[in-house]
Amino acid sequence: MISKKIQDAFNAQFNAETYSAYLYWSMSAALENMGLGGFAHWMRVQAKEELGHAQRFYDHIIARGGQVRFAAIACPPSQWQDVMAMMADTLAHEKKVTSSIHDLMDLALTEKDHAAVVFLQWFVNEQVEEEANVQQIIQRLEMAGQSKGAILMLDHQMASRKADS
Ligand code: FEO
Repeated sequence: MISKKIQDAFNAQFNAETYSAYLYWSMSAALENMGLGGFAHWMRVQAKEELGHAQRFYDHIIARGGQVRFAAIACPPSQWQDVMAMMADTLAHEKKVTSSIHDLMDLALTEKDHAAVVFLQWFVNEQVEEEANVQQIIQRLEMAGQSKGAILMLDHQMASRKADS
C-alpha cells in the first residue's frame, strides 16, 4: 500500500508530466506555424513521451492500491521568439523536472519506500537523457547560427525522430 505522503507527491508529478506534454504539444503547434515541420514532429513525439511518463506514475499509484487524482493542467505559453528561444525554455523546463524527480527520490528514501525508490530510478536515468538530448539540439542550433540553410538541414534531421526514442 502506498502512503498518503507518497501518493500525494506522485499525483503532483502525474500532473507535472501531463503539463510537460501540454507544453511540448503547444511548442509543436508553434513550430508548425514557423514552417519547421521537422522540429514540430520532434516536439510532438516528445509530448507523447511525456504522457507516457504521466502514465507510469498513474500505473504505480494504482498498482499499490492508491488513488490517482486528476487536477487542472496549467495553460502553457503559445508563442516563442524563435526555435532557439524555445529549445532554451525546453532545457530550463527539463532541469526543473529533474529537480522534482530528485525531490521525489529524497522523499522516497526518507519514507523508506523501497518500491518507490526502484520506480523512480528509471526517471533519474531518463532525465539525464532528456537534458542531454535537448543540450545537443541547442549546440547544433548554435552552430547553425543565422544560416537558414543550416536550420532547414537541422529541421530535416529532427523529422527522423522515432516514436520511442
Ligand atoms: Fe517527463 Fe521530459 O520529463
